[in-house]
Amino acid sequence: MRIVVYGAGSLGSLLGGLLQRGGHDVTLVGRDPHVATVRSEGLRVETPGGVETVHPDATTDGADLDADLALVTVKAFDTETAARDLATGSFDAVCSLQNGMGNEATLAARVDYPVYAGTVTYGAILHEPGRVECTGVGEVVVGVHDGGTGPADYLLERALVDGGLVAAVVDDMPRRLWEKLAVNAGINTVTALTRSENGALLDGVANGLARDAARETARVARGHDVSLSNREAVESVEDVAEATAANTSSMLQDIQSGRRTEVDAITGYVVDRAGEVRDADVDVPVCETATRLLRAWEAARGLR
Ligand code: PAF
Repeated sequence: MRIVVYGAGSLGSLLGGLLQRGGHDVTLVGRDPHVATVRSEGLRVETPGGVETVHPDATTDGADLDADLALVTVKAFDTETAARDLATGSFDAVCSLQNGMGNEATLAARVDYPVYAGTVTYGAILHEPGRVECTGVGEVVVGVHDGGTGPADYLLERALVDGGLVAAVVDDMPRRLWEKLAVNAGINTVTALTRSENGALLDGVANGLARDAARETARVARGHDVSLSNREAVESVEDVAEATAANTSSMLQDIQSGRRTEVDAITGYVVDRAGEVRDADVDVPVCETATRLLRAWEAARGLR
């Protein structure tokens, strides 16, 4: 199967590399020098099971591409650019595997084929151009972004499972996306602000903050008729923090590299949606303060 992966950062490179290794014909869309290295030397994929160099195609130009499936792993603030590129190409389905909320709506506004959403709990680090490490074998869960099942279920299952990933198609994607949002609100935000690894959230002051961010997210989800209890949200944060204890979250990686973060699509989104809940008192003080701090950090560096 031909698969284009938009976004050749840590996660995109890992998934693209694993799918190429699994027998698919993958094209990575990313930036130089990574793309140039993948083209000339291949992509070294380091997993707990061994190391292999694979040779996916790679390009810096995502326009006019043609494949069975497009996977989108770009940062949330780059979704509009990816959507414009996707609209110029030809695909049977597109699936967002991004952090944060609202990405699928951005894609659906531009393309006229099925749009899926997914959550990924694989851990990945791009150590240098052409070299990605899988720091934890997790799972990819995909489904129609606003619920139910859809015409591309089989295509996605075949692409991911046949490609050797631990993956499943589900019919309760809205709830899963809010649960993932709670995980990202708790883990990414607190690790980024405290400059700590995910495992540091398992106790102490950081644990309290991460739990509060998750509870606030769950409360907002329920305000929008998504059934996610505080306990479920907190448990998800703690389970993922434990499973990825040694990982540097993607938001902390952004901070360490002086890059813009995904704050707007994570705690910024929670704050915006809290404001829309009617007839309920939904306060989100941790998400609000974290959002303001991260935006202030970005503004001070001219990133927003
Ligand atoms: O963004 C991330 O870093 C990941 O989504 C997760 C699951 C929080 C693990 O670090």
